[in-house]
Amino acid sequence: MRTAVFIPVGLVSGYTFISTQPGIRNSHLLARQQPGGNLPGGAASCPFNPNHVPAVPVNAEFNYNGAISGLPGRGTGGYQVPAPNDTAHQFIAPTDQDIRGPCPGLNALANHGFLARDGVTEYAELVDAVQNVYNMGYDLANFLAVFSIYIADGDWVTTKLSIGCDATTRTSYSPVLTGSQPGLDGHNKFEADASLTRNDYFTHEGENFLLNTTLWAQMTESTGGLYDFAGLTNYRYDRYIQSREENSEFFFGPLGLFQYGAASFVYELMPNGNEGYVPNLENTASFFGAQQDSDGTWSSVPERIPGNWTNRVVPYTLIDVVTQIFLMYGAHPVGIGGNADGEFIGLDFSPYIQGGNLTAVTPEAVACFLYQFVSVPIPSTFNSIITPTVEVLQAVLVAIGGEAFTNLGCPLPVT
Ligand code: HEM
Ligand SMILES: *[C@@H]1O[C@H](CO)[C@@H](O)[C@H](O)[C@H]1NC(C)=O
Ligand SMILES: *[C@@H]1O[C@H](CO)[C@@H](O)[C@H](O)[C@H]1NC(C)=O
Ligand SMILES: *[C@@H]1O[C@H](CO)[C@@H](O)[C@H](O)[C@H]1NC(C)=O
Ligand SMILES: *[C@@H]1O[C@H](CO)[C@@H](O)[C@H](O)[C@H]1NC(C)=O
Repeated sequence: MRTAVFIPVGLVSGYTFISTQPGIRNSHLLARQQPGGNLPGGAASCPFNPNHVPAVPVNAEFNYNGAISGLPGRGTGGYQVPAPNDTAHQFIAPTDQDIRGPCPGLNALANHGFLARDGVTEYAELVDAVQNVYNMGYDLANFLAVFSIYIADGDWVTTKLSIGCDATTRTSYSPVLTGSQPGLDGHNKFEADASLTRNDYFTHEGENFLLNTTLWAQMTESTGGLYDFAGLTNYRYDRYIQSREENSEFFFGPLGLFQYGAASFVYELMPNGNEGYVPNLENTASFFGAQQDSDGTWSSVPERIPGNWTNRVVPYTLIDVVTQIFLMYGAHPVGIGGNADGEFIGLDFSPYIQGGNLTAVTPEAVACFLYQFVSVPIPSTFNSIITPTVEVLQAVLVAIGGEAFTNLGCPLPVT
């Protein structure tokens, strides 16, 4: 995967299982519209740093999980991050040349130089950083990195990815051949509706990536400042209802399931061992970049790893996250699909989703569904350029985490 030689083309056409369903519009699935103007997240307004400085990797003195070069680290956490005296990874607020985006976990990594501080990262840097800092399991780190870079928002050849807006001139190996690479701000590619603290793309003219302090306050009030499974399960449901009512272009397809996974990161990856791993207000606010002012209102500041922060002890793996997705969705089942002409249309993706209901009956089945979902665009990605051999397709499916998923009992997707 790291030496891919394939040329990416529009991926959206791969999702025929969605686009051919009645009532589902192309606008739900089309790559982010970028008329070249100053739309938020577009190339014109994207910060530009001519001097890209990669993140400083771990070394013998400051070793963290020993994760380097995109390979698995030790997976043994419970240590302080950043390490005392590790000056390369101290907090520095981003400048107006630095890109930040919809993921608080990655924004915090960039603000601490575990990702390149300009917000343009690449495969190995990303997979290393989430292992070394948050003790994310290698299987999950690889899955998220491959999905975000290769399937959704980045470049196959350079493996580069913008953690926010469209930085194609810096991520793409050939902008003419690849077309625009939207970065993590790209809508309905990875970023999706009904986020915890980010606006929907459609209701806010494309501004889907900044911390919205009103939503943060809503999340804090709803959970009582304890952002645990119970609190976030209810709040996630509230956000789903809110978006479905307010957003005529609301789309909560397979990516909707990722939203539950992201919510679990709040109580699984962010809590501080020095505070008994309780996902409390002060700690969580620091990661989200929310600061309470003396009058009680909230303002936005750069995301920061809290002082004296100790990461989780055991890795957070793929099966762990799909288990949380399964449980959180199951506690408050909602329709999977989208609004079209004032009506909610449920999707079918048998046997996992039927009539807009998630019908997967185990966490493993949820994992297999996600594996199928991310694999669907692959044949169409190649077909218009080359006719892939079975061996090539198998190699890609394996890189996406084939072993991790087949270990969970998932069949290799039919291509
Ligand atoms: C390779 C690693 C990762 C990638 C590619 C990634 C990507 C993303 C993207 C695209 C979103 C936006 C989803 C949306 O709201 O529509 C997101 C949200 C989120 N991510 Fe990450 N992420 C990664 C790792 C992490 C880590 C390590 C953490 C926590 C420590 C984290 C915490 C979150 C949270 C809490 C949200 C939800 C924000 C909100 O809805 O307001 N992520 N991530
Ligand atoms: C940090 O550096 C100071 C001064 O050089 C030293 O006294 C201290 O032992 C170091 N701490 C750690 C944890 O390495
Ligand atoms: C923040 O979210 C609220 C609730 O969805 C919305 O009304 C408001 O317009 C958003 N604010 C900004 C600045 O986007
Ligand atoms: C950091 O956490 C440890 C363990 O709970 C505690 O003993 C120490 O006082 C804390 N240090 C600071 C500066 O808060
Ligand atoms: C899901 O299943 C229920 C019956 O359990 C049905 O009423 C509903 O229409 C289905 N679809 C959606 C999108 O909720």
